[in-house]
Amino acid sequence: MKALVICFLLMGHLAEMGHCTETHDQILSITPTTPEQVGIVKNISTQYETALWQPVDAQYIQEETQVHLFVPANSSATVKALLQRHNIAHEVLLDNTNHLIEMQTRNDSTDPRSTTSFYEQYHSLEDIYYWINRTAQDNPNTIQTILLGSSFEKRPLYALKISLNSENKKALWIDCGIHAREWISPAFCLWFVQYSLAFYKQNQDITDILDNMDVYILPVMNPDGYLYTWTTNRMWRKSRSIHPSSYCVGVDLNRNFDANWCTEGASNDPCSEIYCGAFPESEPESEAVANFLRSKKDTIELYLSIHAYSQMLLFPYSCTLDEAQNHNELLEMAQDASRNIRRYYRNTYKYGAGAQTIYLAPGGSDDWAYNLGIKYSFTFELQDRGRYGFLLPPSHISQACNEALLAVKTIARRVIDKT
Ligand code: ARG
Ligand code: ZN
Repeated sequence: MKALVICFLLMGHLAEMGHCTETHDQILSITPTTPEQVGIVKNISTQYETALWQPVDAQYIQEETQVHLFVPANSSATVKALLQRHNIAHEVLLDNTNHLIEMQTRNDSTDPRSTTSFYEQYHSLEDIYYWINRTAQDNPNTIQTILLGSSFEKRPLYALKISLNSENKKALWIDCGIHAREWISPAFCLWFVQYSLAFYKQNQDITDILDNMDVYILPVMNPDGYLYTWTTNRMWRKSRSIHPSSYCVGVDLNRNFDANWCTEGASNDPCSEIYCGAFPESEPESEAVANFLRSKKDTIELYLSIHAYSQMLLFPYSCTLDEAQNHNELLEMAQDASRNIRRYYRNTYKYGAGAQTIYLAPGGSDDWAYNLGIKYSFTFELQDRGRYGFLLPPSHISQACNEALLAVKTIARRVIDKT
């Protein structure tokens, strides 16, 4: 119905039947080529009801670089008319995102005839909490839940500790779901736990990891935001905290850590997608994680934070263009992981220091953990490179997670050998 209404409106404006196909929510790929066009695209992304997928903030839009923009059906006509009027190259990257979102939230786990496993689907926050409890209950000797704190809306932040050999070992930390819309990230944390339980003593790499390290997994660092992407706005990124001075909601938790906090690459505007918060660790989610890491800083040797999308293996620094003290070591590890992914899965992952590889992004958890003394610290950006972006179909979960798993194995192996 909605599509038809827009169709009539469009006929009035453009009198061109070619435009009068059904309009859905879409992702547009837009490539501005002049400073003027850059200005227009920045304007569109901030003035109209749209959501930027790439880059993360309008300030990074530049000439000759693709912009991925979510355009809801009701803004579609206006946005496309503007692009056409200014001759800005654009194409539909994804049509009918509603359909894709429906596919992602459909849950076959209640259907006994379903062939896809639990781990090849996305799960609601409620299901993830249930899974955490269930996994701990079913594995009382190996898995322990740790309550790290609670979110702004008072949801518990549970981490799982996998400990298969109880001597005082070193540890690996993995967090997922800092950013709400990056659904493949929590899916990876669940995948990793399941793989660890199923393949200990079956697969040499995971066995070596678990024999040498305890593993802490935080499946959803931003539960309020994650829930919000399931109920209200699939494109939400930030937390859901409210601020006394603004109508805008949420803080970018990956700009809220104490690493060159709120310098270039973050924003002090609560309405920005990269809002740094009122002060470092102002948010209960980042504070809880920072407190836990501080308390375990002498055992945790490897810190991993899982994001999407763009297929990158990043390491410090993101908060400065300076090189980390062990830059070459980190570079070799990431390079090795990227090579393995290419060899086994024929897929390309870029790697490098964050600021040099994508953009300055201060206040990130990886840089903060690194400065705390965890010398092996990485942020993974999982699949894909923009074909589906944040709406990666469930049928891609398995390969995306296996690639990331291979990167974890490659890097953890080298950390174990060094320490
Ligand atoms: N896409 C991630 C972000 O914008 C990149 C994270 C890289 N690390 C960092 N500390 N910023 O948050
Ligand atoms: Zn992210």
